[in-house]
Amino acid sequence: MAVTGPTAKKQFVIVLGLNGLISLVVWFYITTYPGLIWSATSSMTACLPAKSKDLKEWKAENLTNSFSVEVNFEPTDNSKTYRDRNTLLYEKCETLPVDRVRGRRPIYFFAKSKSLAFCKVPKAGSTFVGTVVAALELRKKPGNMFHMSLAIVHGQNEVDFSTLSKYSSSVVKKILVTRNPYTRLFSAFTDKYFVLGARPKTIATKKGKGRFEMRNGYCGYDISFQEFLDYFTDLHIAGKEVEEHTMPVSSLCYPCMVHYNILCKQETLTADIEYVLSVTNISEPRRQTVMELIRSKSLNDTIYASVSYHMLYFNLYPNDCSSKILLMEKVWKVFQLQGYISLSLTFPINSFQNLTDFDAENVTTLILEQIQSRPLSKSQMSKQRQIALAEAYSSIKPSTIARVQRMFAQDFHLFGYDKTIPTRHGKNH
Ligand SMILES: *[C@@H]1O[C@H](CO)[C@@H](O)[C@H](O)[C@H]1NC(C)=O
Ligand SMILES: *[C@@H]1O[C@H](CO)[C@@H](O)[C@H](O)[C@H]1NC(C)=O
Ligand SMILES: *[C@@H]1O[C@H](CO)[C@@H](O)[C@H](O)[C@H]1NC(C)=O
Ligand SMILES: *[C@@H]1O[C@H](CO)[C@@H](O)[C@H](O)[C@H]1NC(C)=O
Ligand SMILES: *[C@@H]1O[C@H](CO)[C@@H](O)[C@H](O)[C@H]1NC(C)=O
Repeated sequence: MAVTGPTAKKQFVIVLGLNGLISLVVWFYITTYPGLIWSATSSMTACLPAKSKDLKEWKAENLTNSFSVEVNFEPTDNSKTYRDRNTLLYEKCETLPVDRVRGRRPIYFFAKSKSLAFCKVPKAGSTFVGTVVAALELRKKPGNMFHMSLAIVHGQNEVDFSTLSKYSSSVVKKILVTRNPYTRLFSAFTDKYFVLGARPKTIATKKGKGRFEMRNGYCGYDISFQEFLDYFTDLHIAGKEVEEHTMPVSSLCYPCMVHYNILCKQETLTADIEYVLSVTNISEPRRQTVMELIRSKSLNDTIYASVSYHMLYFNLYPNDCSSKILLMEKVWKVFQLQGYISLSLTFPINSFQNLTDFDAENVTTLILEQIQSRPLSKSQMSKQRQIALAEAYSSIKPSTIARVQRMFAQDFHLFGYDKTIPTRHGKNH
């Protein structure tokens, strides 16, 4: 249930009459922000929109005369790490900063047959989680489900909160995946704003910026990381909605209102998902299959998924990128920022020009060959990634950093991420 502010208690059950409920919601409406208010009965059946226009739609019949609200934490497992994360979160919910960010409603990847629901957080492992859920729901043995375009998994097995509420909350395990806001935003920028697409195009149009000129042509839009951060923090300050990649996890998943059983972190996602599977009621062969799938995810799959995604956008935005070679040069840069391709490798323009059949599989093969010519160890990869991150933030204005910190205050606070900006040697967990 929606319990915010200093009055919230760690463990309580309130029984409210209808009048009490309405004043409670009006109170939230006045004291928090005109966004969404989630209310949960003990079986999580009531979902109450509190935008002023939605308030009219409320009918007494949607509510029982009295209901109970629980925010008590019941440990559902015996692993200390996960129990501690959960305890910390629900303790911190008592001291929640009031500010909220407007955006879309929660969406869940729901493995119905396994009673597992993951709140969907773009840029915090959502493709990975969506793939695992798809593998859990598949009747037959899954193939290599990671070797596909990033775009495919989205839309599958997704339900909204009210659909999820139809299932008893005591049966459905709800899982939240969090991520350091700084890395998440930089990842959103490099993946979704740096190359091509509607989102960066909107910023370019609104800021009067043109296409990004390179070599003998252009590809993408001339917007910097600074401009990207300014754009959505401006929207937030003006009380407008921001898109999901730039919304805090706390505003996408309402962790202090919806009770989550397990907290996962993008930073340790593989291990965390394996833990989730270990406490899920699934047959042993199926668990083994899904574990193998997770462990078999290779660089080949990662590169292929990203390449096919960007090639799709190349076809969707034919006027915004003058050639596939320039597209690949930008994607190459993205892979360097993400730590896959060594910074010491220059873009092999001739090899790309020599490709006779420019499809995602061929491009992936070429990129993997290049990577093999100067391979990076795991620690070199993460070091390169960290340096790119630190450099990106080092050029950002302090006033912008302050706005990001304010907007993501709940994520920093609730999930225990360090507010100091990333450094070359930082860990960001
Ligand atoms: C309230 O219930 C009615 C019918 O039972 C339904 O049509 C309506 O959408 C519900 N409103 C909300 C806000 O859930
Ligand atoms: C586990 O799943 C099996 C098969 O789907 C089901 O029969 C059983 O009741 C479940 N056990 C629990 C504790 O939910
Ligand atoms: C590209 O193809 C030409 C002609 O077949 C060849 O001479 C050249 O070595 C190739 N370059 C690369 C980098 O593969
Ligand atoms: C690309 O893929 C096609 C088949 O899709 C193959 O015939 C071709 O040799 C591949 N290699 C290059 C360099 O185009
Ligand atoms: C990458 O994976 C695909 C699909 O599994 C496979 O066909 C291809 O040969 C792999 N490429 C490399 C370089 O391993």
